[in-house]
Amino acid sequence: MRVAVVFESMFGNTEQVAEAICEGLRDQGAEVTRCRVADAGDHELAQDLLVLGAPTHTFTLSRPATRAEAVIKGAGAADAATGVREWLEALEPRSASSADAAEAPGAVAVFDTRATKVRHLPGSAARRTARLLRQRGLDVGEVTSFYVEDVRGPLAEGELSRARSWGRHLAVTTR
Ligand SMILES: Cc1cc2nc3c(=O)[nH]c(=O)nc-3n(C[C@H](O)[C@H](O)[C@H](O)COP(=O)(O)O)c2cc1C
Repeated sequence: MRVAVVFESMFGNTEQVAEAICEGLRDQGAEVTRCRVADAGDHELAQDLLVLGAPTHTFTLSRPATRAEAVIKGAGAADAATGVREWLEALEPRSASSADAAEAPGAVAVFDTRATKVRHLPGSAARRTARLLRQRGLDVGEVTSFYVEDVRGPLAEGELSRARSWGRHLAVTTR
C-alpha cells in the first residue's frame, strides 16, 4: 500500500505526530512518503491512502493571520507561507470521471493537533479539513486529534505512541 502523509506545522508538534504516524504505517509494511503541505502536489493525491494533518488555530485551520501570530510567538517564518486550507482550496472538485479517479486517493484520514487546555471546545482543524475534502468530492474516513500542552508544545504524554498506533491501525484498516 502506498501512503502520503502531508502535514502543516509551525512549532514542530504536528510534524512529530506525522513522523510517528509514518512509523506506524511502515511497521505494517506500507510504503510511505511524508511532506510539508507547501511541497504537496497531485502526486500526494494519487495514493492508496492520504493522511492529512494540521495544527488547530482559532478553532479551525490556520489562516495567514494566525500563522503570523504563531511567528510572533516564536515559530519559524518559513512555515507561515501556506497551509492545509490553501492547499485544499486550490484543489479542483473531483468528479467520478476516470481522469479524476486516477488522481484521487483510495482513502483519506485526517488529524490535527490541539491544546489540552481547550479540549472541551468543539472546533478543530481536522473537522474543517474533513469538510473541505468532502466539498471537493473526496470521501473522508477517520478524523482524530492529538494534544499539545501549550501553543508551542510539547506534545502531551503518550501522544507520540498513540500516533504510531494510529498509523498501524490505518495501515491495517485501509488494506
Ligand atoms: C494563533 C494560534 C491560535 C490557536 N488556536 C487554538 C485553538 O483554537 N484551539 C486549540 O486547541 N489550540 C490552538 N492553538 C494551539 C495550536 O493548536 C498549537 O500551537 C499547535 O497544535 C502546535 O502544532 P505545531 O507545533 O505543529 O504548530 C493555537 C495556536 C496559535 C499559534
